[in-house]
Amino acid sequence: MLNLPNTLVLALLAAAGSVYAQLPRPLINYPLGLSPVFDEGFFAGTAAPSATIVQWAPGKAPQACVNELAWNNCLSGRAVVYNVTYADCPTPWIMCRCDNADLSIYQMTNFFGRMPVHLRSTVRHVIATHGEGCSAYAITGPDDGDIVMQGNCNTQSIWLHETGHQLDARGLGTGVGFSTSPTFINALWNDTCVADDYGNTALWEEFAQMTVVSQSHVIYGYIQQQQYPGCFDSQLNALETAFKTSHLTYGGTCHTRIPATPTVNAVWKRGRIDRRGGKRIGPCKFDHLVAGHKH
Ligand SMILES: *[C@@H]1O[C@H](CO)[C@@H](O)[C@H](O)[C@H]1NC(C)=O
Ligand SMILES: *[C@@H]1O[C@H](CO)[C@@H](O)[C@H](O)[C@H]1NC(C)=O
Ligand SMILES: [Zn+2]
Repeated sequence: MLNLPNTLVLALLAAAGSVYAQLPRPLINYPLGLSPVFDEGFFAGTAAPSATIVQWAPGKAPQACVNELAWNNCLSGRAVVYNVTYADCPTPWIMCRCDNADLSIYQMTNFFGRMPVHLRSTVRHVIATHGEGCSAYAITGPDDGDIVMQGNCNTQSIWLHETGHQLDARGLGTGVGFSTSPTFINALWNDTCVADDYGNTALWEEFAQMTVVSQSHVIYGYIQQQQYPGCFDSQLNALETAFKTSHLTYGGTCHTRIPATPTVNAVWKRGRIDRRGGKRIGPCKFDHLVAGHKH
């Protein structure tokens, strides 16, 4: 049994409590969520670089894809794997779909490609499966870096949100989540609102939603349709000070990429759950989605 002095236990409880006491915040800047406010602007204001898509021969897949597809009830033998190579980065992103995924590889390539290359570089594998509606999650352990779209996640704000979880986990390169650092917590405490109701559920969800807001801010130079103008400016400033130049600015080429997981046989037993201990954030749920393009 772990035998800690009572004072130390109390100190640890107080420390944990102070983190979580930051939420919920009293005001919501976007009561209907971010999609109705920002997705039109992302669609109009961004473009994916040209990309080549090469499908792998059947039978093999990266280990992380096998883990997530199996866990998402994709039947063995239905994994489809692609190298997606964008014009701004010579190393492909290896993307995987279950063959009944709602998103096509063209949609995956397009939504992912509309983000700046340095933001994309916080992601290892991009994975899509079939699902009702859309939910999504990010795997953020130090040996991970994958994002998984479950269902028809055809809006840019969701892709930015999930990639925002990777930015949170890896952006500083220290393996420490920015959303739980004193910098972000103090900024949140200084503010009177969160981005939306979903941001009120956890520090990392608020950070991911603020990544969406910040990316729009970088593109347009102002913040649209705020209920309480300026109410999240401290968070916005903290996030942009840390990551605007390094990750949210367009242009340049990739300089750090997370190596792909080893190629293995894409065969698994039905219902077998074989996942390593990576930290999974989500499933993230989104309301009032405004669909982007489809092709
Ligand atoms: C996919 O990309 C990897 C890494 O660059 C490369 O080793 C592999 O040969 C490529 N596969 C195909 C089918 O192009
Ligand atoms: C808190 O707000 C004040 C005034 O609005 C601002 O000057 C200060 O930089 C903020 N602090 C943080 C940590 O964001
Ligand atoms: Zn999330």
